[in-house]
Amino acid sequence: MKRTIVAAMAAAFMATAFAGGAIAKGNTIAVSWGTKQEERWKTDEAAIKGAIEAAGDKYIFADAQQSAQKQLADVESLISQGAKVILIFAQDGEAIKPALEKAKAEGITVIAYDRQIEDPNLLYITFDNVGVGRLMGKTMVEKGRKDGNFAFIKGDPGDPNATFLYNGMMETLKPLIDSGKIKNVCETFTDNWKPDNAQKNMEQCLTKTGNKVDAVMSENDGMASGVVAALNAQGMAGAVPVTGQDGDLAALNRVALGTQLVSVWKDSRILGKTAGEAAVAIAEGAKVGDVAKGNTFADGAKKVKMSAILIPPMAITQDNLDAVIKAGWITKEKACAGADAAKVAACK
Ligand code: BGC
Repeated sequence: MKRTIVAAMAAAFMATAFAGGAIAKGNTIAVSWGTKQEERWKTDEAAIKGAIEAAGDKYIFADAQQSAQKQLADVESLISQGAKVILIFAQDGEAIKPALEKAKAEGITVIAYDRQIEDPNLLYITFDNVGVGRLMGKTMVEKGRKDGNFAFIKGDPGDPNATFLYNGMMETLKPLIDSGKIKNVCETFTDNWKPDNAQKNMEQCLTKTGNKVDAVMSENDGMASGVVAALNAQGMAGAVPVTGQDGDLAALNRVALGTQLVSVWKDSRILGKTAGEAAVAIAEGAKVGDVAKGNTFADGAKKVKMSAILIPPMAITQDNLDAVIKAGWITKEKACAGADAAKVAACK
């Protein structure tokens, strides 16, 4: 009996030790999620967890469910569970700052994941968010509208990405606004990036303008679903180009159907793997500056210089929808459901 238990324990140890071909190092690495509302976060999480477990380390997490207050308690709990490195995907980039002090006091390194927390000691791993906004603006002007009444449906005000995206859009749109070609008729932040709130914001914009809206700059795909629902209720879906980002499956289908102009795709399988591997290296003693290969980011609200890894995004429209299908991000069936194959090459 005893021998069986010992043998079972040894087998279990070997299985852990050699999972993914690596010797277990047994470090605990934590992720504090601000939200998991959007579809993408499941993909990010699987990639982070995969990289951590492949190295023989342990993944633990907490989900603050969009409460900045809960996230502070979550980080404390992750510290008490023995985390050596904590990735924080911040619900609010400022409100989270007291948690950084606690981590620092315990010698724990923090990685700001996807959303910036402006602090010089952190490693910031994200997509090029200004670049995402730039692609939204450029695609709108080149393939949607370069004049008329524009609505801006921005993300949550506590998320620095909402402003990075807006700044990126403005690189293309500002000169057209200044020359009077484009008129900014509605501009709103959207609490918690909620699709329902975005729908309400869009409905109010349509009421205010008497439906005189020619283009909508929505900062993500979830909100674009709310925007398109509001347009649809007025018989305007498909006639008004709408932006988004994340490569949500429903959004890519809307691109094929023509009710959304573009989804800026960010392959979060790559972001998650990069961050998971960085955390593993830091838990083994690597310095954040070395992990970032000396690259830095200093374009935040306070211009604080941080070690940073920025991954480039890609705009997906009807013209290159095959890119996400070929990358195994979405099946042709899902992307093309109900689409006109004569108009969308990827759906032939
Ligand atoms: C992320 C987006 C996401 C949004 C809502 C942003 O910070 O960069 O990918 O759609 O948050 O979670």
